[in-house]
Amino acid sequence: MDLGLKGKKVIVTGATKGICRSLVEILAAEGCDIAFCARSQDDVDATAEALKSYGTKIIGGTANVKDGEGYQKWLTDAAEELGGCDIFVPGVSAGGGMEGEKSWYKAFEIDLMGCVRGFDALFPVFKENGNVSVIFISTTAAVETFIAPMAYNALKASLITYAKQLSQAHAKRGIRVNVVSPGPILIEGGSWDQIRQSDEPFFNSILAQQPSGRMGEADEVARCIAFLASDASSWVTGVNLVVDGGFTKRVQF
Ligand SMILES: NC(=O)c1ccc[n+]([C@@H]2O[C@H](COP(=O)([O-])OP(=O)(O)OC[C@H]3O[C@@H](n4cnc5c(N)ncnc54)[C@H](OP(=O)(O)O)[C@@H]3O)[C@@H](O)[C@H]2O)c1
Repeated sequence: MDLGLKGKKVIVTGATKGICRSLVEILAAEGCDIAFCARSQDDVDATAEALKSYGTKIIGGTANVKDGEGYQKWLTDAAEELGGCDIFVPGVSAGGGMEGEKSWYKAFEIDLMGCVRGFDALFPVFKENGNVSVIFISTTAAVETFIAPMAYNALKASLITYAKQLSQAHAKRGIRVNVVSPGPILIEGGSWDQIRQSDEPFFNSILAQQPSGRMGEADEVARCIAFLASDASSWVTGVNLVVDGGFTKRVQF
């Protein structure tokens, strides 16, 4: 199946590690021009260097999603440099944390407003385009009770509703908006790797809930995002695609 991704102009945030690092690798290999950001200049440079081997246009930048104005400027500059934007994946998260209101503000500013401000900044570019795919990244912790009451789970849940609203409002303009909700993904140096080292019994209790007996991998999520990004999914909008190897046990109606 031809995904039709060749020549697409892509903007991804938080692409030097984890799921979005895999995503930009997959999209560059498919022939996409890509702009991506993270905070560490060294990691941005290393990622840009690796992606350039695919021969497409690669723009790596440093931007902090928490700095709303700077983040939106980076996005509009990136779209201008790319000559448009067909695919947008705001992948950055503040992560979990139970530090009272601090965690709520962090999740609000980064997980939620990173998507809201990102969509708003790029909307004028999307409107001109007429064939755009936006993918937010939520989590299975948004759709089932997980660990404890916390900001990450609740604010990630808000992304699912917001994506649905956007998908309805902008379908006529050719803008599709979907969500991918990964289950626990084991990434070297990532959150589940850290939990494995700091709290092995808890890690093993999560592993025991995976019907396949293993954790997911970054590229298993990234490939699903690539599908939703592509014209192969042209009739899919407003969905929340759970990518968890069967970790969640609910029946999804
Ligand atoms: N891993 C999982 O098990 C899992 C499960 C469900 C959902 N998710 C979701 O999937 C997405 C990716 O998570 P991940 O675990 O694969 O990767 P991750 O470890 O969260 O990756 C972080 C990436 O984002 C950048 N970043 C972090 N804070 C930033 C900020 N304020 N501004 C700009 N860039 C920032 C990091 O680089 P710098 O540090 O250099 O900025 C890095 O490139 C997140 O939305 C996460 O909530 C992950």
